[in-house]
Amino acid sequence: MKNRSVITVLMLSVISAFIFSGCQSEKKSLKPGERWLDNNGQPINAHGGGILFHEGTYYWYGEMKQGETYLPECNKKWGGTRVDVTGVSCYSSDDLTNWKDEGIVLPAVKDDPSHDLYFDNVLERPKVVFNAKTNQFVMWMHVDSKDYSKAAAGVAVSDSPTGPFNYIESFRPNAGVWPLNVTASDTIEGVLARDFEGGQMARDMTVFVDDDGKAYHFYSSENNATMHISELTDDYLRPKGEYKRIFTGRKMEAPAVFKRNGKYYFMASGCTAWEPNPARSAVAESIWGPWKELGNPCVGDDAEKTFISQSTYVLPIQGKSDAFVFMADRWNKDDLPDSRYIWLPVQFDENGNIVLEWHDEWDLSVFGK
Ligand code: DGJ
Repeated sequence: MKNRSVITVLMLSVISAFIFSGCQSEKKSLKPGERWLDNNGQPINAHGGGILFHEGTYYWYGEMKQGETYLPECNKKWGGTRVDVTGVSCYSSDDLTNWKDEGIVLPAVKDDPSHDLYFDNVLERPKVVFNAKTNQFVMWMHVDSKDYSKAAAGVAVSDSPTGPFNYIESFRPNAGVWPLNVTASDTIEGVLARDFEGGQMARDMTVFVDDDGKAYHFYSSENNATMHISELTDDYLRPKGEYKRIFTGRKMEAPAVFKRNGKYYFMASGCTAWEPNPARSAVAESIWGPWKELGNPCVGDDAEKTFISQSTYVLPIQGKSDAFVFMADRWNKDDLPDSRYIWLPVQFDENGNIVLEWHDEWDLSVFGK
């Protein structure tokens, strides 16, 4: 009798564990553009995101987009729809295919209109890096006012990859500092000179950590006309005060950076709000450049629209050489929470140029063993 009740209790706990884990069957492949579900059977909500690999686990951070998509009065001229800020979400995985919801690791602020993370503002493109010297997880993000005039970088830290992250501050980078490659005309005219004292505009962004532990903030600056690359302090919390203008006047957003065979690669989009446009790519021998533009790496149908998506990150696959995943957002400007994910394997041609081809369905075996 006692044995029977022990067995019943065991069976019930197995069944409830199954139910509470969301009864999601294991996924074996990635299907770009389809609705991707997490372990609870909910659509993964991590837009404009990036991935951190830490101690055997991938952590995917992104903008949690919830609620009504609307066009605020202040953005009517250029049609910039939005959802109110909910926060930064996090998902974890050991195979990049099955994702566990780790919750909101940096929530929006509901009751303080003066706070950067107030729900009525903008929080975009969060990226998390690990600082081995301080043992801290450092999140950089684009924080803005609803009309995108603030154009600042925000920083938050946590002792754990799954948060909670403590928000520190926002700022416009490199106030009072000229870029390393400044020219005489830059110092007297234009947006760079205008923003010299208060700091440079910083919108779409990524953070890249090099093999030597140095970290760099790439951000669309000067009203999105020119990208800046700015080295971070050793603790990754502030700009170090050394930066360069790159792709001057080329109007790029959505930067993503990776390193292959000692060379630095850069991907980005043009600036067309939520609409897709041809992707950009570039290569350099040194992170400080000179950067050589390689053009749109996409081939085939919808190549001119980056397969109807916009870059957000390029992820090196751990344990495999020469294996990178291009991560992009297929924005749905009328229903932003239903924006989908386009992940594709990065290929290289014989000259080392990036090539992106569409796949309806694929898995990590494309990279070999
Ligand atoms: C394009 C940017 O890449 C996105 O992050 C977002 O800021 C939209 N513009 C807003 O229209």
